[in-house]
Amino acid sequence: MRRKIIAGNWKMHMLTAEGRALARELAPLGKEAPGTDVIVCPPYTALSAVGEVLAGSGVHLGAQDVFWKEKGAYTGQVAPAMLVDIGVSHVIVGHSESRGRFGVPEPGMDDAVLAHFGDSDKTVNLKLRAARAAGLIVLCCVGETLAEREAGQTDAVVSRQVAGALEGLDAGELAGVVMAYEPVWAIGTGKTCEADEADRVCGVIRSEVGRLFGGSAADAIRIQYGGSVKPGNAGDLLGRPNIDGALVGGASLVAADFAAIVKACPA
Ligand code: 13P
Repeated sequence: MRRKIIAGNWKMHMLTAEGRALARELAPLGKEAPGTDVIVCPPYTALSAVGEVLAGSGVHLGAQDVFWKEKGAYTGQVAPAMLVDIGVSHVIVGHSESRGRFGVPEPGMDDAVLAHFGDSDKTVNLKLRAARAAGLIVLCCVGETLAEREAGQTDAVVSRQVAGALEGLDAGELAGVVMAYEPVWAIGTGKTCEADEADRVCGVIRSEVGRLFGGSAADAIRIQYGGSVKPGNAGDLLGRPNIDGALVGGASLVAADFAAIVKACPA
């Protein structure tokens, strides 16, 4: 039986005082949902403040990204050990927004601007491996755009991203990886992937892990769904055989909604 895992990705929200206040409301979830891993991922600037509030609560602290080098002349980057140093235990890598693939493209975000969000399968792999080497649990995101889905490429895109992200990992490294299926077209759009389809694609991810690492790795790996998860759809999604958790954006900013999603996990 795989343990459920619910993570809140706060994205670029919350000044430190706001983050502290939200964390105070979420802290009881560690005790109220002992069968579920609960993680909150504030922006870098609020990590320490939120970590102080969550200390000892059983709710884990996650970052939203990480760089792959230990130290050096990499202006603006954050090393895995720097996250560990301030109490971070989990990190998201390969989020579609870090790959420059947005659910709701903004006007003015042309290719020259999108290049800022430059993650590729290769950099996702570098980040993932560096994070695992530092002992961080990785939430590794994959997912197709609407154009890719409409072109019938969903399974191929997702499989390619899984293989790229996990390339060269050994069993120990893989044991600390959680995959997250986040269809780009469902992120921040209010469009949830139907639970049957989300479960099917999570099954594709599981099969790809099996092809690469064998059947027991496929059975063991946890796979989250992300994309407009709300209290109203969480129970349906979380009851599916291949869905082991949720990666929650907008609804994780509202304490009652995030708590309801955590409590929607089957016991
Ligand atoms: P929403 O829940 O706001 O659609 O965001 C999902 C997501 O990207 C989580 O990482």
